[in-house]
Amino acid sequence: MSSNDSTGKTLLVASLLCIVCSIVVSTAAVALKGEQVKNKLLDKNKNILAAAGMLEEGKSVQEIFKQRLEVKLVNLDTGEYLTEENATEDWQKAALKNPVAYDQRKAAKTSGQNEILDGAIDTASIKRQAKYATVYLAKNKSGEVETIILPVHGYGLWSTLYGFLALKTDANTIVGLGFYEHGETPGLGGEVDNPKWKSLWPGKEVFDDEGNVDIRLIKGSVDSSTANAEHKVDGLAGATLTSNGVTNLLQFWLGKNGFGPYLEKVKEQGV
Ligand SMILES: Cc1cc2nc3c(=O)[nH]c(=O)nc-3n(C[C@H](O)[C@H](O)[C@H](O)COP(=O)(O)O)c2cc1C
Repeated sequence: MSSNDSTGKTLLVASLLCIVCSIVVSTAAVALKGEQVKNKLLDKNKNILAAAGMLEEGKSVQEIFKQRLEVKLVNLDTGEYLTEENATEDWQKAALKNPVAYDQRKAAKTSGQNEILDGAIDTASIKRQAKYATVYLAKNKSGEVETIILPVHGYGLWSTLYGFLALKTDANTIVGLGFYEHGETPGLGGEVDNPKWKSLWPGKEVFDDEGNVDIRLIKGSVDSSTANAEHKVDGLAGATLTSNGVTNLLQFWLGKNGFGPYLEKVKEQGV
């Protein structure tokens, strides 16, 4: 056996290779962190536009976002926008200056900026929520607001699903729904991403005649014989638990502990 084949040398080469590889991998992870954050934000913005059916070929997401969306923060208790008059705390003033940078997910975990939800009202199983939520007001080409896009999230079977629900300015008619992050099983709960299923949402209505949130997924398909079909969407086949999660999260966020007070105001006063 030549000296290069000795156990000591083999272990030395293997160890050096491991060290070099780990340096390469960790350097790449650190160097690409900024790019990853940027791409995640881009994907989120793309989903905001997709929910409202605003993606346009040949136009970048950021361009459409900048031209057509106004970002505002809403006090979920009162349904009022955060304004210069009612922003009292430093974090509120900072959020008002740059609402795009307001991180609702971080706020939900920050004492003073969040509410801990009692189990009885926490139908979306989120445990805590931010006091202020971001809303995106989408303008048409003449500059009039025509769609309100609301961030929604809640627990499915395996994961919390994060998405956007777009409503017309009647605060009732759905324009679209899409999730940009979840860990449900591909082919089962993961079918929330299926364009065919997403195409079932436009035109559905959130509230019944008494003003109660009635939008829901049903087991099976909605057809001409389904009563109150305007409030119902096909459940995901073989994924009743994810489907129930989607119903629960929508009912939570559209109800009185979510955007309910805000939607009331929109119905009364407009956006
Ligand atoms: C590996 C595996 C992954 C599953 N993933 C999901 C899922 O993502 N969402 C879901 O609702 N059900 C999922 N299920 C099925 C549930 O356990 C349950 O059977 C199903 O939700 C019942 O829906 P159904 O009444 O429409 O069949 C999964 C089951 C298995 C074995």
